[in-house]
Amino acid sequence: MAEQHLAVVVLAAGEGTRMRSRKPKVMHEIAGLPLLGHALVTATQLGASYVVPVVRHQKELISEYVSAFFPSAIIAEQDELPGTGRAVECALEAIPADFDGAVVVTSGDVPMLDVATLEHLIDTHLESGAAATLLTAVLEDPHGYGRVIRNSAGAFLEIIEELDATDAQRKVNEVNAGVYVFDAKHLRDALASTGTHNAQGEKYLTYVAEAFVKSKQKVIAMQVTDNWVVAGINDRRQLAEVALELNLRICEAWQLAGVTILDPASTWIDVTVQLGEDVTLMPGTYLRGFTTIDEGSTIGPEVVMTDTQVGAGASVIKAHVTGSRIGDGASVGPFAYLRPGTDLGADGKIGTFVETKNAKIGAGSKVPHLSYVGDAEIGVGSNIGAGTIFANYDGVDKHRSTVGSHVRTGASNVFVAPITIGDGAYTAAGTVVRRDVEPGAIALNVSPQKNLADWVLQKRPGSKSAEAAETAQKAK
Ligand code: UD1
Ligand code: CA
Repeated sequence: MAEQHLAVVVLAAGEGTRMRSRKPKVMHEIAGLPLLGHALVTATQLGASYVVPVVRHQKELISEYVSAFFPSAIIAEQDELPGTGRAVECALEAIPADFDGAVVVTSGDVPMLDVATLEHLIDTHLESGAAATLLTAVLEDPHGYGRVIRNSAGAFLEIIEELDATDAQRKVNEVNAGVYVFDAKHLRDALASTGTHNAQGEKYLTYVAEAFVKSKQKVIAMQVTDNWVVAGINDRRQLAEVALELNLRICEAWQLAGVTILDPASTWIDVTVQLGEDVTLMPGTYLRGFTTIDEGSTIGPEVVMTDTQVGAGASVIKAHVTGSRIGDGASVGPFAYLRPGTDLGADGKIGTFVETKNAKIGAGSKVPHLSYVGDAEIGVGSNIGAGTIFANYDGVDKHRSTVGSHVRTGASNVFVAPITIGDGAYTAAGTVVRRDVEPGAIALNVSPQKNLADWVLQKRPGSKSAEAAETAQKAK
């Protein structure tokens, strides 16, 4: 393909009223990207010289997203004239006036359109020398789409929108997918003479195809075999339907690449996620954002993981994990909450009912039970006793704690930060550590235990406890 001769226009200026949302339609997300993101990734992969998203409605918000993630895209603004034809006209004004290659037009609300389908469309267009080549789909329920009208020989004649169609035309179930390739020069000329004579008073892009037919130029309408690739999203039911189908395809692709997914119906994987060979995903697992899982790790059941890197051979069960790193062979959960900045070393453990944040836990170190570890660094081979709280917040500022290597801390400790516990040190059960502990020392600050004999017999006479105590004393 002659790459330097391609411009891709992505329409995203419409209001999207059927979404009933404050958010622009094309910014609604599926599989971890806004709808527009999917369209722009595909457009970018075509290797075009110009990728031109067209914006108008909530243009600041959309432009901010485009500039951040697709900096080489040329953002075109549509003016107050409505319609898909006007949108394309505005896009053409944003690229050099002498551009004479092929112009691909796609929509920001058609997220499953893939590179292979577009390349096939472009190749057909270039080989046939058509003025326009467009994609169509045969739908069981064509409601809402523009209908493709052909002559008795099957040649393309025109596209009629639902609102402008006669009853007979509405019965046609071949629809315009909204994906086109045009010759730039023909497109410019045809748009300049396109009117707005329709129910919506808009300048329709579809009129261009009809104009070409009338002036005896070639227009090819190609039917897709897989309707999902051209599924457009207009409301939230369609958003859910397309999200579901896309997710099943993502799961299937990973299964074919060597990942075991027990239940694709309850496993959701963003397009941005990377998985290694022999990873196992158990039911109820959500892998989001820039998450990567290396070979042989098992995730789930019931894990929500976002922007997290997991090493090889690790295990994460029933956990909520964000912005963290989990080392090779490490284990997390069940019932663990790993907040941003958690970095668990190889073969380390974050166990049951443990919350961590900004915590570097060294190789082989363990926080097995009922603890909070915040703003801390723990060396290698250390064990944090059950029920330990890293008290990192004095009510005004956050402070850090440092625990050395091969440290053993007792159950029910509080580490009042800032604090340092040296290598090989111990702390006794129930210690509130307020002062640094030297390497090899044991810290203990519990007061000596006092037992008041017969307290229960005197203070709780006649109770079951008193009775049990008396029986035990007599048996002695
Ligand atoms: C459009 C087609 C219809 C086709 C359907 C496929 C026209 C006239 N109709 O209808 O034949 O079956 O897509 O999904 O083209 N947009 C702009 N500026 C505008 C209006 C729309 O940029 O002034 C953008 C929208 O943001 C959207 C795309 O164009 O991304 C399609 O607009 P939409 O209003 O959804 O068109 P449909 O009624 O679905
Ligand atoms: Ca649409």
